[in-house]
Amino acid sequence: MRVLVLHGPNLNLLGEREPAVYGRATLEEIDARIGERGRHLGAEVRTFQSNHEGALIDRLHAERRWADGVLFNPGALTHYAWSLRDAVAAVSLPCIEVHLSDVSRREPWRRVSVLADVRAALCAGRGLDSYLEALELLLEIAPGPERDAEETVALLAERLAHPDDREVVARELAQILRRSGRFRWVGLYDVGPSEVEVRGWSGPGPPAHPRFPRTAGLTGAAVASGRPVIVQDVRGDARHLPMLEGTRAEAIFPVAGPGGVVGTVEVESANPQAFTAERLRWLERCLEGLGPFWERPNGPAD
Ligand code: DQA
Repeated sequence: MRVLVLHGPNLNLLGEREPAVYGRATLEEIDARIGERGRHLGAEVRTFQSNHEGALIDRLHAERRWADGVLFNPGALTHYAWSLRDAVAAVSLPCIEVHLSDVSRREPWRRVSVLADVRAALCAGRGLDSYLEALELLLEIAPGPERDAEETVALLAERLAHPDDREVVARELAQILRRSGRFRWVGLYDVGPSEVEVRGWSGPGPPAHPRFPRTAGLTGAAVASGRPVIVQDVRGDARHLPMLEGTRAEAIFPVAGPGGVVGTVEVESANPQAFTAERLRWLERCLEGLGPFWERPNGPAD
């Protein structure tokens, strides 16, 4: 995993610049800590600071094939430099916006961010920890499976064989899939005659709709057709029922039972275009053996 860290104007003066707002750590110290944490997490980190909008864009372009993701603190450019927004959209890398200070609680003009609609997440207001938190998050959401499919299939089978409560198993299966495939969010749902209900999920938060009609959203389309529904950018799809803020790509895999679809597996990513052919093959292989989960007692929602 390779991470590009971009710092914008005036951040070279950290340490002496308004320490009451930005803290006493210098940029050098911050970069060293990010590098250290990166090594600990198995990531390679490159950092770059510039006081010039174009230089930040040039570096992002130059590293776009090297990097798997970006941490970006554009400084004051955050609030008006639209070419940075376009640059992030152009390179199609997951990007986390970072600020040392809590920009939402300062002057009103700092509440505008040009990255708002292209960032995968925002980490702000925690000083140096904003960067470290963003790094951890990026490693979780950046593309590329961490475990190969066969290894993941074995882990899933092992969990499925345990006689635990169905909700516990659902949560654990979701967690294995999310971690192994480095997805942002994974949920297992039961599909009943009229409603769909989440059984277990793994990710940064619960789904906004734990229960919804079986005809609603992308799930409705997957249930009706019995085939996976893959949407690379949910913002362009009117059927999408938002479950979690910041999700850009979503895939729903229906699970067939004797009388039709009995369940779905929903996979979400913060990265538009996340479902490459390779990742879809990975997912399909991993999901092949999950059918028995929906045969367990205390099954479908209604
Ligand atoms: C900043 C917040 C910006 O509003 C400001 O212009 C900066 C630093 C931060 O890290 O808190 O230069 O990005």
